[in-house]
Amino acid sequence: MTEPQQTFYDAVGGAETFRALTARFYEEIARDEVVRPLYPEEDLGPAERRMRMFLEQYWGGPRTYSDERGHPRLRLRHAPFRIGPLERDAWLRCMMTAIASIDSATMDDEHRRLLVEYVEMAAASMVNSPL
Ligand code: HEM
Repeated sequence: MTEPQQTFYDAVGGAETFRALTARFYEEIARDEVVRPLYPEEDLGPAERRMRMFLEQYWGGPRTYSDERGHPRLRLRHAPFRIGPLERDAWLRCMMTAIASIDSATMDDEHRRLLVEYVEMAAASMVNSPL
């Protein structure tokens, strides 16, 4: 019998890696003058948790995000926030810093490349304003 393919989630260290990634990402968001004002709540903890659950699910981990939130419909959920090129770039800068903070023993170059490619594509698809 062939073994099921290992998911990206498992290959990069599972829950602990996604926890570290989103924690660092929200540390960056918290001090970013462009994107921080878009987040409606003072406490970024719940937003961090939603992001972590979403990313875990996307990369083959637990499906808690959809159990709690239903279909992601991310473009629709971002519609209340004005996201132009400036916001996209600021968000990406936070995410790239977070990805860079994961050591190479935990995430090898190939997995890192896949993750970077994904976040660049996803951030571009969230833009909903020309400016
Ligand atoms: C939610 C901003 C891109 C995933 C949010 C929220 C803001 C925001 C203000 C509301 C915070 C909250 O959950 O309370 C932005 C900006 C982006 C961006 C400025 C720039 C491009 C992305 C991308 C992804 C993503 C690329 C996925 C890869 C999420 C998720 C939520 C969220 C999962 C929670 C949705 C829910 O309510 O279940 N974002 N976002 N965001 N964002 Fe983004």
